[in-house]
Amino acid sequence: MSTVHINAEKGDIAKTVLMPGDPLRAKFIAEEFLQEPVCYNSVRGALGYTGTYRGRKISVQASGMGMPSIGIYAQELFTQFDVENIIRVGSCGALQPELDLMDVILAASASTDSNWAYHYGVPGILAPTADFDLLFAAKKAAQEKGIEVKTGNVLCSDVFYYDDPQIWKKWAKMGVLGIEMESAALYLIAARYRKRALTILTVSDSFVKETKLTSQERQTSLLNMIQIGLDAAWDIQAKD
Ligand code: HPA
Repeated sequence: MSTVHINAEKGDIAKTVLMPGDPLRAKFIAEEFLQEPVCYNSVRGALGYTGTYRGRKISVQASGMGMPSIGIYAQELFTQFDVENIIRVGSCGALQPELDLMDVILAASASTDSNWAYHYGVPGILAPTADFDLLFAAKKAAQEKGIEVKTGNVLCSDVFYYDDPQIWKKWAKMGVLGIEMESAALYLIAARYRKRALTILTVSDSFVKETKLTSQERQTSLLNMIQIGLDAAWDIQAKD
């Protein structure tokens, strides 16, 4: 029962999927955190694995970068593989001065400069929102692990290299915490199919402080976020 982009059978993929952008991060999470991980997909290098975490079946699927890419994987997982929960784990650029490199953000909502929602035909602005149960599970997991998280609105942008390098300040003025490029599509697809989605982000660079993580720091700083994501996945999986 393969789709255009995922070469797997229905039962190969868990109901709960952790979704990093980078395929090599999917491999890292599967190999370091899951028991007996099996690679079910390598089409276009978008690696997908299923294993168990604390005794529960969990998958990890790479999304690629940007809304069109995550939109393909989220849609196929939700509609063709009976996936119920997707937790994106990614990085973002911080827009607020109180955010430091390596801080973890839970994206309660995803504002956007994209026209993605247009194709659903609603006569207004549809708010891309995280699932509350997943958000609650992630907050609880962070508290139990003693990891401080910031929860709020992020900007999901179509653009990485802005023509106007000051444009981020307009979003910062409205309290938006950080910029990434996938959450809005993920939240809208989950809304469309009555599924659950959440994005957890690690601050990899700061627009305010003009700092960024080294590639080595990037690797280690993601561990808190991965741990929160896996614990939230484990928690929600019990309810299904
Ligand atoms: N912009 C968009 N996505 C990102 C960024 C950024 O600055 N940093 C990490 N992901």
